Amino acid sequence: MKKILFLATVILCSSFIFGQGNNYVQDYTKFQGLALTPPMGWNSWNKFACNVDEAMIRQQADAMVSSGMRDAGYEYINIDDCWHGGRDSLGFIFPDAKRFPSGIKVLADYVHSKGLKLGIYSDAGSQTCGGRPGSRGYEFQDALKYAEWGIDYLKYDWCNTEGLKAEGAYKTITAALKKAGRPMVLSICEWGTDAPWKWAQNVGHLWRTTGDIYNCFDCVKDHGTWKAWGVMQILDKQAGLRQYAGPGHWNDPDMLEVGNGQLTPAEDRAHFSMWAMLAAPLIAGNDLRNMDEQTIGVLTNKEVIAINQDPLGIQGFRYSIKDSVETWLKPLNGGDWGVVFLNRNKGKTISVNHNWQEKVIVDSVADRTLDTRKINYSVFDCWKKISLGNTSTPLKISIPPHDVMVVRLKAMR
Ligand code: GLA
Repeated sequence: MKKILFLATVILCSSFIFGQGNNYVQDYTKFQGLALTPPMGWNSWNKFACNVDEAMIRQQADAMVSSGMRDAGYEYINIDDCWHGGRDSLGFIFPDAKRFPSGIKVLADYVHSKGLKLGIYSDAGSQTCGGRPGSRGYEFQDALKYAEWGIDYLKYDWCNTEGLKAEGAYKTITAALKKAGRPMVLSICEWGTDAPWKWAQNVGHLWRTTGDIYNCFDCVKDHGTWKAWGVMQILDKQAGLRQYAGPGHWNDPDMLEVGNGQLTPAEDRAHFSMWAMLAAPLIAGNDLRNMDEQTIGVLTNKEVIAINQDPLGIQGFRYSIKDSVETWLKPLNGGDWGVVFLNRNKGKTISVNHNWQEKVIVDSVADRTLDTRKINYSVFDCWKKISLGNTSTPLKISIPPHDVMVVRLKAMR
């Protein structure tokens, strides 16, 4: 009898703990099936910093459609820092009433009506980097609000996080999003400090690998307590990380500076091409409302985007450096390859004579081989949009300073 009573108690207790309706078992894993290719979109920070409001965000959504960016694959309109107003008496977050008088839900409805998705920003600490209310201690309430508003993407920053550990903090917000129930992409923004590539594959969909990008091609901006990095500096910091990227979990070398006026047309092209090769999220950071033809041409280059959005999701790698020209390779679906020649020299045009057949290239990380002696590939120039013959003859090109040549190799069978 005692045994039966004991068993009955055990069954009763475990049904409380594991049973339905139990509200305190958490799921610390991200929503599956999102960001199967690197997310594409726009974010307010690089151009507008704290100057965000609903009219401007709506206009960006309009421009994403009218510029052809939506049709080229861009999807997310992401509000970064400084949208916050405060917390109500119950602790729920609300937006700045002057900047977002209609509220975030109305904005989300508008963005959705354009066939786009809305992203928002918070921080794991007590305050955001811009000094607005952070989510620490309010994670579940914030997630509920975001879900109620119809948010699709959360960028979660790492300022003012004294005493917190990144893995635990990001798992908490993931659990909160899961509990709120609306699928959201989680963009982890702890600048690579705690090597998120080692623990975040099931926690978030992308993770920043470095500190902030700075709007220059090849420089470092020293802010005293922290540094911001030029495009080339960020590129170099990606070494050794490609094994961690793949569908649903990407290395994020930060948002684009294309069209923000400091880079030359060649540098804009090079920046965009390298992000494509890195299988990086393509999050534009410029004002979409007044782009010139050159900027639109870069951001909507279908062939370069196809290299970025390739379904295999294999991050590219630097294969060689010669006379300041780097050769990068990216295995693509169907046995194709993306190849980039990047001239890092600021002042000199460099001639390249590339003999495709010189070596068999083995990518041991992705287990792919490029053997042009066995298979002949057609060579297509993704910027000039012309055929450059095939891999049976060497490629003779010259690359202007800070420019790239991007080609796609297609197996001829
Ligand atoms: C940090 C992030 C940036 C941006 C700002 C906002 O610096 O890394 O991308 O979100 O905060 O304050």
